[in-house]
Amino acid sequence: MFAFTRRSKDAIIASNLVLKKNKIRIITWLSRPTACAVSINLGQSHACSHRWLQDEPHVTNPNYSAKQRDDARRLSLQLLDKIRNGAALDDVVEMLARHDQPIPKSYVRHILMGAMRQSGQLARMLNRHLSKPFDKASSDIQDIFLLASFDILNTTAPKPSVAHAWVETSKTIGNLKRAANLLNAVLRKVVAETPEELPNPIHNLPFWLRKRLIADWGQPRMEKIAAMLLEVPPTDLRLMKGQENPAKDAHVVTDQLIRLADASIDVRDLKGFDEGSFIVQNLAAGLPVDLGLALHPTAKTAIDLCAAPGGKTIQLLDHGLEVTAVDYNTRRLTKLEQNLTRLGLDARTIRADVLQLQQNTDESYDVVLLDAPCTATGTIRRHPDLLIQKHESQLEELVEIQKKMLDRACQLLAPGGILIYAVCSLFKMEGEDQAKSFLERHEDFEFVAPTLPVWLGDKEAIETHEGVRILPDHLLEHGGMDGFFMGYFKRKKR
Ligand SMILES: C[S@@+](CC[C@H](N)C(=O)[O-])C[C@H]1O[C@@H](n2cnc3c(N)ncnc32)[C@H](O)[C@@H]1O
Repeated sequence: MFAFTRRSKDAIIASNLVLKKNKIRIITWLSRPTACAVSINLGQSHACSHRWLQDEPHVTNPNYSAKQRDDARRLSLQLLDKIRNGAALDDVVEMLARHDQPIPKSYVRHILMGAMRQSGQLARMLNRHLSKPFDKASSDIQDIFLLASFDILNTTAPKPSVAHAWVETSKTIGNLKRAANLLNAVLRKVVAETPEELPNPIHNLPFWLRKRLIADWGQPRMEKIAAMLLEVPPTDLRLMKGQENPAKDAHVVTDQLIRLADASIDVRDLKGFDEGSFIVQNLAAGLPVDLGLALHPTAKTAIDLCAAPGGKTIQLLDHGLEVTAVDYNTRRLTKLEQNLTRLGLDARTIRADVLQLQQNTDESYDVVLLDAPCTATGTIRRHPDLLIQKHESQLEELVEIQKKMLDRACQLLAPGGILIYAVCSLFKMEGEDQAKSFLERHEDFEFVAPTLPVWLGDKEAIETHEGVRILPDHLLEHGGMDGFFMGYFKRKKR
């Protein structure tokens, strides 16, 4: 039975009873965040601290002058350029947060995230109005077209005035001056478009990504995933053991897992943030550790390889384990240490390349967690930058690294211990196939199937042959989840 509950004074409020496959499923109403979410994510490779904000009436907002709004547009162009050139979204968001001029930052975030998420649809729409293919234009010209079009299609202000403002901004930027007339002509046509007329959202997924998703999961699933990309993701909290839910009106999944009903809440304003009562972690990102530790309840020690910024290290510590956290990225490891400090937790941290990790010959752990670097395609809803930055060529390279890391990770495991392999990828190559080939290479390991929590719903929805698979449309009616794969391998006792 599926039970995703909203708790009020310990009562479960269920708004729908749905009969499915002869089972009654209780489905509570979960308000969709329509425009906002705050994320200080500790559970993902791209841990970030950013806000998705409502389409505020930024153009008419009297609190900002025309100059400040112009500055905001210019900054959005600069930030999109940084992302195109490989900057991490978290760093870009932090740059924006640190920007010391009074500009409408929420507006910058809104158009930046939106333009990336819908870049495929917008590009196809723009192609209808351009004589030359959109993708043949230089990247700075593409960027202003994308940002301006997204802004026009989503604004609450008069569209012609938004279009005009973008043209005026372009006239003051070196390279873009020459495109001002073209921009003016095209944006006038965009003003006449409606969001409903936009091309199919599948175009927001790059062709190679679509092709791979179809090969792994079929066309309808790929279409669902593409449609979900348009929605603002929910914000989930993991409460530290014994801590109280700080969010009124939240949707209580379990005593420790909370989905915020109103994603516009800034988690830093919630009671207990400074005291470290909770972390922000997507429901899916918490599963690898929760399910893995249930397979080994007597575990005392763990090594978290690829640990930064520490979402899963924190989980391991919260379960009472003695934890060693390894990551080769200094900046990210520092972030992990800061996170531990905020939560009042302590772990041994090691800055090292997992593949070069030195080890005392007698050192072994009850739990080895490998949250490996991957395409992170399971998190594209929260990280639309991946749509611009990731390329198919990176996949094979990552698969090879994951394989080597798995081979190294398993050497650190004590007999009877559990190796947890996790990737926030949608591809079987990084998940199911990787797990299968690991077991073929290592006869001293066996796959163990974890018990899935009731709140995950229909078990049929999740493949469990080589591990647990979560696709983003899982719990779709409640806002979905990040995509994840997790494999559990037990070292056979000699
Ligand atoms: C998926 S993220 C880890 C997220 C983290 N487990 C959490 O829950 O917050 C992958 C991490 O692997 C680290 N990494 C990638 N290759 C590595 C290597 N060869 N050695 C050590 N760390 C590595 C990256 O710096 C990154 O922090």
